[in-house]
Amino acid sequence: MRKKIVAGNWKMNLDYEEGLTLFSEVVNMVNDEITGQQHVIVCSPFIHLHSLVTLGKASTKLSVGAQNAHQAESGAYTGEISAKMIRSVGAEYVILGHSERRQYFGETNELLAKKVDIALKHALVPIFCIGETLQEREAEIHFDVIKRQLTAGIFHLDASEFAKLVIAYEPVWAIGTGVTASSAQAQEIHIFIRNEIAAKYGQSIADGTTILYGGSCNPKNAAELFGQADIDGGLIGGASLKSRDFVDIARVFN
Ligand code: PGA
Repeated sequence: MRKKIVAGNWKMNLDYEEGLTLFSEVVNMVNDEITGQQHVIVCSPFIHLHSLVTLGKASTKLSVGAQNAHQAESGAYTGEISAKMIRSVGAEYVILGHSERRQYFGETNELLAKKVDIALKHALVPIFCIGETLQEREAEIHFDVIKRQLTAGIFHLDASEFAKLVIAYEPVWAIGTGVTASSAQAQEIHIFIRNEIAAKYGQSIADGTTILYGGSCNPKNAAELFGQADIDGGLIGGASLKSRDFVDIARVFN
C-alpha cells in the first residue's frame, strides 16, 4: 500500500524560537495521538532545519524537509542553498515546484527537472508540486497544464528514481484563499495524474506513488478530501502553523 503523508509547509513564517516552539508541540502531539501508518513531515525555512531534525529524533513518525533547493551542486550562487547542504543537516524531503516559486521566482518545469535530479542525487525526496491557475481552469486547459508539468518536470526520470517521489496537486486558486477544490474536483485530477504515471511507468509504480492534495486544507475538510481513492494525504500551508490544526489533519489517517 502506498504511503499516506501529511506535510506542513511553513513558507516564510516563524522566527527561530517560534519555529522550535511549534515543532516541539507537533512532536509531542504526533507521539501521543498518531496511531496509524501515516507519516508527518514539516517543511520549514532553512534556518530551522538542523534544530528540527534534532528535536524530531523523538518520533519515528516525523520527518523534516526544506521548501526549495538550488539546481547546482555548489558554487558562486550568493544566498542560495544546495541539496547537499540540506541533506547534510539531516532533512529528508524538499518541496520543489511550489506555485509560489513558479510564480514569484520564475521557476519553470525545465529548471525544476534539474532541481529534482540534484535532490535525488543527494538522497532528498522531492515533494513535487503541480497545479493549474484559475485562468487555466477557466480556459479548460488544466489537464494539459498538469500533463506538461509532469512531462517536463519529472517524466525524464527512470522508473527507480521516479518511484522515490511524492507528488502534490495544488490548484493555485485554492492556495491560501480559503477556497478548497471539492473532493470530486481533486479526485478527478488525482486519478488523471495516476493514469499519466501508469501510462509512462506502468500500473504498479502508479499505484505506489503518493499523491497529496494541497490548497486550503483544514481539519474540517481533510477527512472528505483524504477519503477519495487517489488522494493520499495533504500539503498543508496555513493550517500547519497551528499545532492543533496540523495534527488534527494528520489524525484523519488514524
Ligand atoms: P494553504 O497552502 O494550505 O495555506 O492553502 C498550501 C500550500 O501552499 O502548500
